[in-house]
Amino acid sequence: MNLQDQDGRSFPYLRLSVTNVCNFSCTYCLPDGYQKTGLEKSELCVDEIRRLVTAFAGMGTHKVRLTGGEPTVRKDLMEIANAVANIDGINKLAITTNGYKLNTKAQQLYNSGIRAINVSVDSLSPEKFKQITKHNRFDEVIKGIDKCLEIGFESVKINVVLMKDFNDIEFEQFMLLSKMKQVSVRFIELMRTGDNIDFFDKHHISTEILIGKLLSNGWVQKLRSKEAGPATEYVHPEYKGRIGFIAPYSKDFCKSCNRLRVTSHGELQLCLFGDGRYDLRPLLQHDNQIQELQNTIQNLLNYKKSHHFLHNNNFGITNNLASIGG
Ligand code: 5AD
Ligand code: SF4
Repeated sequence: MNLQDQDGRSFPYLRLSVTNVCNFSCTYCLPDGYQKTGLEKSELCVDEIRRLVTAFAGMGTHKVRLTGGEPTVRKDLMEIANAVANIDGINKLAITTNGYKLNTKAQQLYNSGIRAINVSVDSLSPEKFKQITKHNRFDEVIKGIDKCLEIGFESVKINVVLMKDFNDIEFEQFMLLSKMKQVSVRFIELMRTGDNIDFFDKHHISTEILIGKLLSNGWVQKLRSKEAGPATEYVHPEYKGRIGFIAPYSKDFCKSCNRLRVTSHGELQLCLFGDGRYDLRPLLQHDNQIQELQNTIQNLLNYKKSHHFLHNNNFGITNNLASIGG
């Protein structure tokens, strides 16, 4: 049985949040930092995660990305990674991190089976990096990225949330970075969520204009593989790295959706901007529930919408992406 929805999309890619907690305070996401409410549900444990991913792997999922919050705040992250990497059918384990202490953690991440890493770097100026994250850790994060390249991760990407009058003017510097380092710089269009409406109105800018700049500088769009997700990527013969765009407000963005998301409490979220989460946790308690879990996920997929409704200012139940990892 391979997962498919009513639009014929399949789902080789699972984004699994392992925690809602984050140690950064990015202005567009958690401007006041992660706040405890006292009502938190516990995070999925390693066994629950193993069962969840086993069920997905049995339905054609072969790539898993660990997200957060900030996944590295979980003390048992390496155990989680090891468990997921060893599940039959999972051949690509990735992580998205803010790069906190990455220089000291990179080797451990690699040793536990992670082969692809995305690091958020919203500015190449240490002061502006601090302004957006509230942490003076730019040098440390860049050292961490270099360490990942040195270790030989199969893929190292840099996530940049594009912001008007903030980092759009740094485009040339980001291009230069991809000339020097074998990284894929990914510009992500700022997304409107429940918590960031004013910030969004002030700083949202489309990636279109940057694509124009690339094309006039000799970059060409990379052919998309059959399983490629919604990002578009550009290459240039004189650059070691690549430049890519994730533009959720662009036409047909959702047609190539290839991913499902599960929160750190075990809820399936069919779309980043969807308005429902479905609790799978009761079906993660015993190894003999895998079949039932698979049937449930397949049935829930009937509710996956063809596209998001961001254009109607409907961003679903997501107040900030820290609860679902982007
Ligand atoms: N819009 C776009 N990207 C966001 N991220 C978090 N919140 C938003 C938002 N509102 C990004 C982070 C990170 C990835 C996990 O999601 O910067 O790169
Ligand atoms: Fe943390 Fe990522 Fe949100 Fe920044 S964007 S506050 S690093 S979860």
